Amino acid sequence: MSVLVAYASAFGSTAEIAERIASGVRNAVNDVECRPVDDVEAASGYDAVILGSAIHNQEWLPAAVSFVSRFSAELDGMPVWCFSVGMSDGLPKFLRARGAALQQERLAQYLRPQVPLRDHKLFSGVYQAAQMPAMLRGLFRLTGGRFGDLRDWDAIDSWAGEVSAQLAAPSSPGPSSPGS
Ligand SMILES: Cc1cc2nc3c(=O)[nH]c(=O)nc-3n(C[C@H](O)[C@H](O)[C@H](O)COP(=O)(O)O)c2cc1C
Repeated sequence: MSVLVAYASAFGSTAEIAERIASGVRNAVNDVECRPVDDVEAASGYDAVILGSAIHNQEWLPAAVSFVSRFSAELDGMPVWCFSVGMSDGLPKFLRARGAALQQERLAQYLRPQVPLRDHKLFSGVYQAAQMPAMLRGLFRLTGGRFGDLRDWDAIDSWAGEVSAQLAAPSSPGPSSPGS
């Protein structure tokens, strides 16, 4: 079985998460390639795809959106897992759960009609103060927001394990079951 982990990353934290997921999946599947979406020339040679993007302004990066439209015919009928990388764990505590749920659902709503989605997972990445407009930084900090490396490697490893288990199940790969 051959699995592609493809990602779009602006500042590198999504790339590192994709590499970590690929390493996890290699425990179950021998042939796992991890590439930036722009380096993928065809998706048809793979049995399954794990696709991830950093989030900018509530949306996937244009390179990831373009990947989905370029390969929609090839992805159709193939099991696809998606992950998105944002900064919801850095939000002020009173907004965190709600912000993550809204972000997760908004992206899943975009993805569900586009790909045979097995699952969509939201992670937090690296969000530095310099990436937020200067006039918002003070208020963000005052209300409990935080910057920095927000990645939860245990959660990332755990999701890679779940995907691996599904890939290793006798029915995989194959037609998708309803995704979240
Ligand atoms: C211009 C910009 C817009 C962003 N918009 C969002 C957003 O709407 N939602 C979110 O959760 N994170 C947002 N983020 C945070 C990034 O998704 C986060 O820093 C992520 O780790 C970036 O991944 P990367 O290092 O692979 O580029 C934004 C970051 C930048 C720089």
